[in-house]
Amino acid sequence: MTQTHSVILKIENITKLHGQFKALNTISLEINRAEIFGLLGPNGAGKSTLLSILAGASKPSSGFAWLDGMEIQPNNLKLRARIGLVPQDFAFYEDLTAKENLLFFGQLFGMQGQVLTNKVNEILEIIGLDDEKAHQYSKYFSGGMKRRLNLGIALVHSPDILMLDEPTVGVDPQSRNRIFEAIKIINAMGTTVIYTTHYMEEAESLCNRIAILNHGEIIACDTLQNLLSLTQTTINFSIHENDQTKSGILQNKLPELKSEPLQGSYSLTSHKNSTPDIINLLVNEKIQIINLHLDSPNLEKVFLSLTGRHLRD
Ligand SMILES: Nc1ncnc2c1ncn2[C@@H]1O[C@H](COP(=O)(O)OP(=O)(O)O)[C@@H](O)[C@H]1O
Ligand SMILES: [Mg+2]
Repeated sequence: MTQTHSVILKIENITKLHGQFKALNTISLEINRAEIFGLLGPNGAGKSTLLSILAGASKPSSGFAWLDGMEIQPNNLKLRARIGLVPQDFAFYEDLTAKENLLFFGQLFGMQGQVLTNKVNEILEIIGLDDEKAHQYSKYFSGGMKRRLNLGIALVHSPDILMLDEPTVGVDPQSRNRIFEAIKIINAMGTTVIYTTHYMEEAESLCNRIAILNHGEIIACDTLQNLLSLTQTTINFSIHENDQTKSGILQNKLPELKSEPLQGSYSLTSHKNSTPDIINLLVNEKIQIINLHLDSPNLEKVFLSLTGRHLRD
């Protein structure tokens, strides 16, 4: 079945120089309407630089980006109204409460009266800051509460596209879940999401499609499933010492099997769907398994196979 997607954001050959240094090198991407698109890359890859250009907060050295055919440029208020940016740093007033902050930023977008009040209450609920804790000045908030308020501010004007720059750095697991839930709710209401992170688990659990950014270049861009299929599953198992004599049978039937230095330990790189065959073989030959571990594909392995280094170094 072929699926047609409507592109909301088109990025063509964006390069950004900081002096001689190329922070972004000819980036081209298409973001589909209403998807959660992940931008995954290690620190310094260029994620914030790209988001700031896409949000119209800075200019590329060359190249273009269009939101529904409208070229993204700084100081375009019409564009600003359609984009919500959650910056990496906190961008709210510490001497205001969560509600006061949201009301203030809503007014900046020309919102007022009941429409604004309703919107602010809706957001406070979505980000989980509608209890009494949220009535204190935001400078007294925990890291997680501050992150949630930062997210809420980007939502107050109901943007069509939400761009988040590492929104879970320094938060407790509970706040992280809350942020994930809020993003899912916003996305389910039709908002397109660009989610940048250096945590591969976050990209895996949240995103439909993912671009991997490294040294200012997109080194892969695909669905999670297709990216994961770039690497394979490793099956590691050990057999009981009484069955060591049967290792010849294993080696015979599984030519790719590697024996580990520790006697009785084996590992095999295979596609995931051949795992049952291997287990069947062990069972049929009545070989006693004392340990079995599947090392499944993940984005860390994909990154390692593409770059030769770890995502987190
Ligand atoms: N204003 C600047 N001047 C010089 N170098 C910069 C500037 N901003 C970012 N960089 C460099 O550009 C690269 C990408 O930075 P950034 O976009 O912040 O990466 P990320 O968000 O992925 O961690 C880094 O090497 C960073 O040091
Ligand atoms: Mg950054």
